[in-house]
Amino acid sequence: MSKPLSESQNKSLGDSISENDLYSRVASHLASGSEVRQEHLLAHWDRLTEAQRQQFGEQILGIDFEILDREIRSGLSKQNEVQVDWSALAMRAESPDAVRLVDSSSEILQRADEEGARALSAGKVAMILVAGGQGTRLGFDQPKGMFPIGPVSGRTLFQMHVDTLLGAMRTFGSSIPLLIMTGPSTDKPTREYFAKHSNLGLGAEDLKFFEQGTMPAFDSRTGRILMDTPSSIALSPDGHGGVLRALEKNGLLDWAKERGIEQFFYAQIDNPLVRACDPRLIGLHRVAGSQVSTQVVPKRFATERVGNVVKVDGRTQIIEYSDLPEPAAVQTLADGSLKLWAGNIAVHVFDVAFLAACCGSSDALPFHRAKKAVSYVDERGEHCVPKEPNAIKLERFVFDLLPAAERTLVVEVRPSEAFAPVKNASGSPTDTPETSRQAISDLHRQWLEQSGVRVAQGVQVEIHPMWGWDASEVQGKLISDRRSDVPLVIESDTYFT
Ligand code: UD1
Repeated sequence: MSKPLSESQNKSLGDSISENDLYSRVASHLASGSEVRQEHLLAHWDRLTEAQRQQFGEQILGIDFEILDREIRSGLSKQNEVQVDWSALAMRAESPDAVRLVDSSSEILQRADEEGARALSAGKVAMILVAGGQGTRLGFDQPKGMFPIGPVSGRTLFQMHVDTLLGAMRTFGSSIPLLIMTGPSTDKPTREYFAKHSNLGLGAEDLKFFEQGTMPAFDSRTGRILMDTPSSIALSPDGHGGVLRALEKNGLLDWAKERGIEQFFYAQIDNPLVRACDPRLIGLHRVAGSQVSTQVVPKRFATERVGNVVKVDGRTQIIEYSDLPEPAAVQTLADGSLKLWAGNIAVHVFDVAFLAACCGSSDALPFHRAKKAVSYVDERGEHCVPKEPNAIKLERFVFDLLPAAERTLVVEVRPSEAFAPVKNASGSPTDTPETSRQAISDLHRQWLEQSGVRVAQGVQVEIHPMWGWDASEVQGKLISDRRSDVPLVIESDTYFT
């Protein structure tokens, strides 16, 4: 395929050579996508400005056809329509081996707490916060991290996470770097937000942003990559599993190794109740020599919309709620409890060395295909808005690293202490800003009441992590230090800061 530029389109001979060169590089890269011809992407090339061609050319040259072709092939082939036979897999699934709250001895937990505290004090841990999603369900048009969630303070999700981390740094007397993964739509506003608010109190050396990658969306019938505009491809974020590639691409695995960081504590932006760098989870992970550990809560009911942490063929893995057939979900054990009880709250600990080893294997994280309605520009330049799902989007899930690990650990935690996600807009039945704010206030009420302070009914309370990082610190303040500025009965909404 050759399509030199016309004279009028070139301003100078120099430009003409480099632009023709760009065109032929782009065209030959497209031709290397052997399974489905993708030359339609150049249908509007003649009409693009030089700057548009540069940008579009780079976008096309950035496509990894080796990976994309494989996905297109399996996306198109009838017999592969079902990627994984989830029904069969779910029926083979067993309860995971887990450190359960009811049967873990205080000795084990104390050892874990000490080991976790030691690792944190020695600077062996960094935190990863994934914040690349678009937050469509919440109906908030800025990065989700900027959503106000503090029940009394109105602090944003970003502030809640950073404050808890700052509390951990104070508690363990060390620096714990925060790595925030952004996506194409959240990167710029997230960086601007932190810059405008003095990094929310984090030192510049303790804060890193890195942007996740994207994957082209393709037509589910033809496999042809869709165009968003005449000069750009329809791209979508490559899922939170994109964290692995993005860490490597941004040199952050090497950076972590150089800094002596051995574990990443991983959490999602949407859960303000995450106990950032929970020393117990980190300690259990280290004592067990685990490569990937995950915190779970008991599901409230069989079909709750959380991932299911299970054991299949001896390996820990997560079956997403959408993939778990009801007959498998409702299975019970002899005592009547759910067999697949462990709900994924997306809090994980990863060994840095394990992640580095996974980078060498392109299959460590498979793609999940989702059929979606994606608007596109056709070869005539017309903007088409499909009524039905027309395209396949590709996403990787970070928790697919679990079955890739030789040693994993599943640790139960009380939902009231660790899980209050903000997923849906106000008025939805679950996981709304209101349910999340209430859960934060309920937990802090519990901490206060355990320390002898009564909180009147209907009153909202919120404790800043610098005032009290956990129940025992709050107890120390109120019982041992006998803080006289805290009334014995709290009668109106109060923010302890
Ligand atoms: C997710 C889990 C589910 C778990 C639940 C707990 C998946 C597929 N499912 O569900 O098992 O029970 O959380 O709350 O993850 N993100 C990115 N980049 C992306 C996509 C997502 O950074 O490309 C981030 C989002 O910003 C968000 C998080 O990942 O913080 C979760 O993504 P989302 O797609 O909303 O997952 P859920 O359906 O809520």
